[in-house]
Amino acid sequence: MEQAVHKLQIGNVTLENNLILAPMAGVTDLPFRLLCREQGAGMVSMEMVSAKAIYYKNKNTKELLKIDEREKPVSLQLFGSDPEIISAMAKQIEHLPFDILDFNMGCPVPKVVNNGEGSALMKDPILAGKIIEATAKAIDKPFTVKIRRGFDEEHINAVEIAHIAEECGAAAIAVHGRTREQYYSGHADWDIIRQVKEAVKIPVLGNGDIKCGEDVERMYRETGCDGFLIGRGAQGNPWIFSQILEYFQTGEEPAKPTVNDMIDMMLRQARLMIEVKGEEVAIREMRKHAAWYTAGYKNSSHLRNAVNHVSTYAELEELFKVLKT
Ligand SMILES: Cc1cc2nc3c(=O)[nH]c(=O)nc-3n(C[C@H](O)[C@H](O)[C@H](O)COP(=O)(O)O)c2cc1C
Repeated sequence: MEQAVHKLQIGNVTLENNLILAPMAGVTDLPFRLLCREQGAGMVSMEMVSAKAIYYKNKNTKELLKIDEREKPVSLQLFGSDPEIISAMAKQIEHLPFDILDFNMGCPVPKVVNNGEGSALMKDPILAGKIIEATAKAIDKPFTVKIRRGFDEEHINAVEIAHIAEECGAAAIAVHGRTREQYYSGHADWDIIRQVKEAVKIPVLGNGDIKCGEDVERMYRETGCDGFLIGRGAQGNPWIFSQILEYFQTGEEPAKPTVNDMIDMMLRQARLMIEVKGEEVAIREMRKHAAWYTAGYKNSSHLRNAVNHVSTYAELEELFKVLKT
């Protein structure tokens, strides 16, 4: 059988491998993306950015749009609902050094859905088609679309949307095997990924519940998808990429990183975050990452509580020093 992990061509962009960090607001910031690329991710995705916020020159979007040459190839994701604004903003930011522009049709958050954005577009295939067509035409870089299985159980239409995306010029499509209604709960339905893969010619990226090399192998076997988007499995675990690559080289799941390696990686992420955001914001945001990093290690629940009271890098380092061997 052909290998699940291989090079992947999306439009004119070639990825060294098809293991891709999924976009996660509040998680896939620049420091975290750098760590995932270092660990061998074939591409990393940024946090979703509102096209309207770019249009209105919202101050906070500036940081979200920051890209480091070392993280390339990188995918920038827009969300919105107005074809004119989205395509115009895509053109306006195209000079930034991202490689691929992605469009969000999956976000389940009420604030977004109630504006007709994110997963709400699964309910409006005509508008979705207009957005995709206008944006794919407006820019030279490849334009991709990330969808869900459907909006709810009564409207499972990923295949229909995938056809529209392909006809309207999308260079690839990512499918998260859950409905909006499911948010992130339960198991992702991988069969919908297979159905989309069988329906379109553009590359299909499978998404949902990939935690290790065996999952990648199984998703490939069950769906035939061309690439893999990895979200929560990477939280506090940038090694997931090197570990999956190793799995496909050796045929065995590698051991969990040692406590020392875990602490070194976490502290390095904290230092990178401080460089980008300053210590106060970095350490506040680092608390959730630290909780993810420690999950499954000794004393993790104690650490999770303690880390919530940490407000400087020195305190964070001190807290974890005791664990080092
Ligand atoms: C905290 C968090 C933030 C997310 N933010 C985004 C986002 O900005 N854009 C997007 O398309 N999907 C977003 N997602 C969805 C993920 O990209 C992915 O589709 C989902 O988590 C399922 O994959 P997984 O099972 O590998 O986590 C987010 C998910 C989480 C958990």
